[in-house]
Amino acid sequence: MSDVSLEEIVSLCKRRGFVFPASEIYGGLAGFWDYGPLGVELINKLKAEWWKAMVHEHDNIFGVDGAIIQNPKLWEASGHIAGFTDPLVDCKNCNARHRADHLADTDSTDLTELTELLKDLACPTCGKKTLTKPRTYNMMMKTWVGPVEDESSVAYLRPETAGSIFTNYDNVRETMRAKLPFGVAQIGKAFRNEISPRDFIFRVRELEQMEMQYFISPDVQSEVYEKWRDFAWKFLTERLGIAEENLQWHEHAENERAHYAAAAHDVYFKFPQGFKELWGTHNRTDYDLSNHMRVSKKDLTYFEEETKSRFVPYIIESSVGVGRMFLAVMINAYTEEEINGDTRIVLKLPAHLAPYRVAVSPLLKNKPELVAKAREVYAMLKKEFGNVMWDDNGNIGKRYRRQDEIGTPYCVTIDFDTLEDNTVTLRNRDTTQQERVKIDELATKIVL
Ligand code: GAP
Repeated sequence: MSDVSLEEIVSLCKRRGFVFPASEIYGGLAGFWDYGPLGVELINKLKAEWWKAMVHEHDNIFGVDGAIIQNPKLWEASGHIAGFTDPLVDCKNCNARHRADHLADTDSTDLTELTELLKDLACPTCGKKTLTKPRTYNMMMKTWVGPVEDESSVAYLRPETAGSIFTNYDNVRETMRAKLPFGVAQIGKAFRNEISPRDFIFRVRELEQMEMQYFISPDVQSEVYEKWRDFAWKFLTERLGIAEENLQWHEHAENERAHYAAAAHDVYFKFPQGFKELWGTHNRTDYDLSNHMRVSKKDLTYFEEETKSRFVPYIIESSVGVGRMFLAVMINAYTEEEINGDTRIVLKLPAHLAPYRVAVSPLLKNKPELVAKAREVYAMLKKEFGNVMWDDNGNIGKRYRRQDEIGTPYCVTIDFDTLEDNTVTLRNRDTTQQERVKIDELATKIVL
């Protein structure tokens, strides 16, 4: 990873079709972003890798895909309607609003502590010492279900995907004949009315999460908690190629934990704005199922045959944002190198994550015989890998630069020698080395 600024990443993402501001032609909307053709390829690969590691490689973890809008009682029971808040201050002079904990540069959300820390601070927007005392602000996004817009039809866009995992705990247990311990995983959108969305896709109002809730007996909470903490670190380093020096552990202090968590460890990533949260592991104890039992009046206890005991399962949660993972992978892969006095930008993405596995080009696009041969090679590789790019724009140097910037591990060029001897030039993204390879052997070379 080179020392890259957020502006450079934003610019690359826009220039190469990874991420665009949502509704850009209308001036955008703060906290909302659209993924472009290359972004969606990378996002889909990240989600597939997580699903494989989480669901397919564990025989006791099952997937669900719950609705974004649920019965509002779910959020009453989960504590989100009362407690899903951030501390906020207003400026009486310029009316700007700020996250109090961000202004005070603390992880604490305790209002007394924040009042003390902020008492001499000026508003960063107008510079006047006219900030109100911090107060809490609920981040749930509200809507109405049905034609009547009144209190009886209020509903919420889910603030985390976990909610419908808790409410489906018994359905999954019964239909999958699952015994504790078992897990339920979900990938999906969540919505938070963040006071100050910022840092590109790092803090957004519409996010996507990958969450897994592991239902256990309370006796094993410590070891299971440790297992899922390790899983996060290993996944990031071993499956996404993130360098260890870009990661850090952060244990939540009591005044920093979410309202449901008895313990929380985050993996922090070295974003350009500093080490920040990427992936959380939480011990949610029996908080969720107890509260859903209380509000729904349904019995969600578990009877353990071996010990002949009945209890409310504890939950260890593993939760990561897809957008933050995307950003971390992009930053980790971003490299600037000097080659023969020129600077090249190259995304050194692991080959299995690259939006395109290989790009195919005819040396000259106005020579029909080269184009026809290149199309043949393109079709062959597309059948093999699927994600192959046809690139005949500009000269060969420009094509290589473009493919380096989007992380394509290999480029194949068809030239006049190809027509004679059925060999092509295969160029490696990371080494920039080129070798002559027989068309028949291309697929095996690219796999390796
Ligand atoms: N169910 C637990 C939960 O939602 P969280 O720490 O609030 O916990 C989990 O969120 C993960 O979701 C975070 O580690 C982060 O990766 C991502 N995330 C949370 N809020 C976000 C936001 N506003 N924008 C982008 N990602 C966010």
